[in-house]
Amino acid sequence: MTGHILIVGGGEAGLSIAVTLRDLGYEGELCIVGAEPVPPYQRPPLSKEFLYAHGEPVTAELRAPEFLTDHRIDLILDRTVDAATVNDSGGLAVLDDGTEIAFDRLALATGSEPRRLGVPGADLPGVVSLRTLADATHLRTELEHARRVVIVGGGFIGLEVAATARKRGLDVTVVETTDRLMARAVAEPISTFVLDHHAAEGIRFLLGTEVTGFAARNGRIGAVQLANGESLPADLVLVGVGAVPATGLAEKLGLVRERGIVVDAHARTSHRAVVAAGDCTVQPHPNGLDRLIAIESVNNAVEQGRAAAHTLLDRTPPPRGVPWFWSNQGALKLQIAGISDGYDDIVVRRDGVERLTVLYYRSGNLVAADTVDNPRDHLAVKRCLADGKTIDPVNATNPGVALKSLIIPRPEMDPAQ
Ligand code: NAI
Repeated sequence: MTGHILIVGGGEAGLSIAVTLRDLGYEGELCIVGAEPVPPYQRPPLSKEFLYAHGEPVTAELRAPEFLTDHRIDLILDRTVDAATVNDSGGLAVLDDGTEIAFDRLALATGSEPRRLGVPGADLPGVVSLRTLADATHLRTELEHARRVVIVGGGFIGLEVAATARKRGLDVTVVETTDRLMARAVAEPISTFVLDHHAAEGIRFLLGTEVTGFAARNGRIGAVQLANGESLPADLVLVGVGAVPATGLAEKLGLVRERGIVVDAHARTSHRAVVAAGDCTVQPHPNGLDRLIAIESVNNAVEQGRAAAHTLLDRTPPPRGVPWFWSNQGALKLQIAGISDGYDDIVVRRDGVERLTVLYYRSGNLVAADTVDNPRDHLAVKRCLADGKTIDPVNATNPGVALKSLIIPRPEMDPAQ
């Protein structure tokens, strides 16, 4: 196929669409417009290794510049698509500098933005958020001068940065509104295990605690004010209270949106010339539940990007793999396989203070597992879910028994029943 495909968004999903299009033999023009001034890079290190104290920070490109040139993937950086029109045979995009780009098909991979805290003082110098390389570069400089760091939000960003800041020897307090950590993504035993680990490293936690404002001292952040009247001295505050899908362009195009751009399992939007992939989307639940879900992960961005590329070329995407996710928090490695949302039972498998696995079941079948420092269990669960099987819950509580030896057919798939 020839023509012109325009991809809006230069992150993991946008690049995945472009690379897959070329892998599938698309020979037409291909252009990515990215809002950041740098070529697509890996975001995960930004909340971890990039912030370590020693050495120069290293940024890992997702693809070498020669790869992009060789594959004729045009990059327009430091620009946003401000407006676009589209009909069934294509459309026109207008960039913030007035440049017009005509396209036959459009792909939206606009990602998400850090949710802001609407409290007084949220714009003070020293109150930062983290998503882009520019954010991470700024945070790294701030960490060099900070002594007392307050992290607002006990989710993935908050805990990864808290562990790194602690490793740099800083005084770290995490303030979380709910009564446990990472409540959006994991069950209570994982939240408690992770909290105990970080607390033993010296991180202080204030759960069930609301931030009401930030107070200035000498023109920058000086203290975090809490709803209970307490005031926490701070020279640096990181706000990590969730992400908001970037749907502004989708809105201008009249695409259907909920908490993100609504797509089907093939990354199709409500307009036949437009696909969308990555953090900007909500999609059908992979476990067949009757609701849309936002899957905020690198793995999803890559896989959904591949699906979007197939759809752009009127091909059927390959079946989706088992969703997975990871979060390294200092020495602790959390891995998630499958989507636990909608579970009705859990099985906890604990190996002393070293390792923890939580298996999530729905209607008696395994749907997901979280593991802490247990890659063997993680791999066993991934294999099990990929094969459409389940794990015998009765014996799984014994950490001495290998999970892979407990993989059994799902009851409804067992021809004997
Ligand atoms: P998150 O949703 O994981 O965590 C946000 C946390 O903030 C929740 O625990 C929530 O209860 C808490 N919170 C909300 N409002 C609050 C308030 N007013 N005061 C205190 N706490 C409050 O989102 P997070 O950590 O900001 O991450 C943003 C995005 O980046 C997500 O999509 C996440 O999946 C992604 N990410 C992924 C990583 C990975 O792959 N390892 C690492 C870091 C971020």
